[in-house]
Amino acid sequence: MIVIGSDHGGFALKQEIITYFEEQNIVYKDVGCYSEEACDYPTFGKQVGEAVASGEYEKGIVICGTGIGISIAANKVKGIRAALCHDCFSAEATRLHNNANVLAMGARVIGSGLALKIVQTFLGTRFSDDERHIRRITQIEEQS
Ligand code: RB5
Repeated sequence: MIVIGSDHGGFALKQEIITYFEEQNIVYKDVGCYSEEACDYPTFGKQVGEAVASGEYEKGIVICGTGIGISIAANKVKGIRAALCHDCFSAEATRLHNNANVLAMGARVIGSGLALKIVQTFLGTRFSDDERHIRRITQIEEQS
């Protein structure tokens, strides 16, 4: 199951991704925001991060204007590896190498067509399970 959240800057793109999830029968939880009224991205980055870290959701998606603030907020949650991706190469690589569990995007940076491809790539790529990548992720876990 996927958990998704955004601030006002990411609201419209979040709705487009939700439409895609509904078309594809992908089960998701939308933690907000629920309108384009200005709100604070740390709230939603934290909520998505905690929902993934708890094990209730397999992966998360966070969106703000740049993707930067909300990815910083999600990464404050222990166990979260949020990756800011604006291209499919990075989305694939961060799943293969970092086992990223949250995808962050900036709705003011890329269009919805590319964003949907990035979502598909991120959700469709399994972690490589390579020893060297496990070792590096473990080192990150040990730092927090
Ligand atoms: C909101 O105006 C904007 O600051 C926010 O969406 C995000 O880009 C922050 O990193």
